Amino acid sequence: METELYTLDDTETDDAVFARAAALLRAGELVAFPTETVYGLGASALDADAARRIYEAKGRPSDNPLIVHIADPAEADAVAYVPYAYRRLAARFMPGPLTVIMPKRACIPDGVTGGLDTVAVRCPSHPAARRLIETAELPIAAPSANRSGSPSPTTAQHVLRDLGGRIRMILDGGPCEIGLESTVIRLTESGCEILRPGAVTERMLADVLGEVTVARAVTDPGAAGEHPQSPGMKYKHYAPAAQVVLIDAVPTLFTEYVRAVIRPGEAVAVPDDEAALYDGCSVLSLGQTHSAAEASHALFSLLREADIRGYSRLYIALPPPTGEYLALYNRLIRAAGGRVVRLNPQP
Ligand code: TXA
Ligand code: MG
Repeated sequence: METELYTLDDTETDDAVFARAAALLRAGELVAFPTETVYGLGASALDADAARRIYEAKGRPSDNPLIVHIADPAEADAVAYVPYAYRRLAARFMPGPLTVIMPKRACIPDGVTGGLDTVAVRCPSHPAARRLIETAELPIAAPSANRSGSPSPTTAQHVLRDLGGRIRMILDGGPCEIGLESTVIRLTESGCEILRPGAVTERMLADVLGEVTVARAVTDPGAAGEHPQSPGMKYKHYAPAAQVVLIDAVPTLFTEYVRAVIRPGEAVAVPDDEAALYDGCSVLSLGQTHSAAEASHALFSLLREADIRGYSRLYIALPPPTGEYLALYNRLIRAAGGRVVRLNPQP
């Protein structure tokens, strides 16, 4: 099939593009669209056949449930049985990069939730995502718009490369602002549990809910089997063809080690202001300066770039498994298949 690619430009031509995209969604077809986190691959969340097309296009295991996207936090009531804690979270963090798992209503087919009796709900803040949902007048089921196993797409070109010829339409809204997927949480009696860390951090959630725990599989990929509630945790993720070598070391030790072991055809990923320490080496950018937000924004694009350039190995410093670095830590440890070179003394 031919994939139509439209660049959104905030002019009247966008009206026709959204009308066309909404018509495709209503007809059960797939449309990729930008969000503030990563690009999503959208289909009607009320249509089991449309959901099946998502799994086919992505090559995704059918037991891995999809997130249902809504244009206004109050629309959650149409798809889920909404506890009070959701409303408190919505008042603070929605629209935005937070996904909440709740008991699902019957209008959401089993094919969307991988047979679970819960549904993950998210209200994105990206204006194009909200406008698409509003125009289609549907809740939109949307996983990240990559082929299963590869890094999530943060530009329309990433989507085209993975899914061109497999989906009907891509809306190009430029690069995603955040670059890592939303925080996914499960509400518990006393607070919540983070199943996937994102830009809404443990601390931010604790401010609203009190008790917040982090699922063990977030920092220990080997523990994923413990979490049958979140099937996504057990699958291989974000793995580029290059071997990602994660190094746990203080900055001077990291530089010394990488300079000693790096070979031609291999690359190191560091912030731009550290690039000069690696003259003669291939360097990929983790953002302009050392910051969690910049590195998060850069990571998935960088993993794809490493493959395009054909590097066999990519050296990256392991961030701390805390605060605003936790999401980055979680994606990196999966990209590295759980292996870490530890040069710091262990406690
Ligand atoms: O930022 C995001 O969340 C992006 C954009 C497009 O919104 N979407 C995204 O979707 O990352 P996806 O399908 O790539 O990741 C959804 C994750 C998976 O790990 C899945 O297992 C988990 O959420 N999930 C979805 N529904 C669930 C449910 N009912 N119970 C437990 N986990 C669920
Ligand atoms: Mg995904």
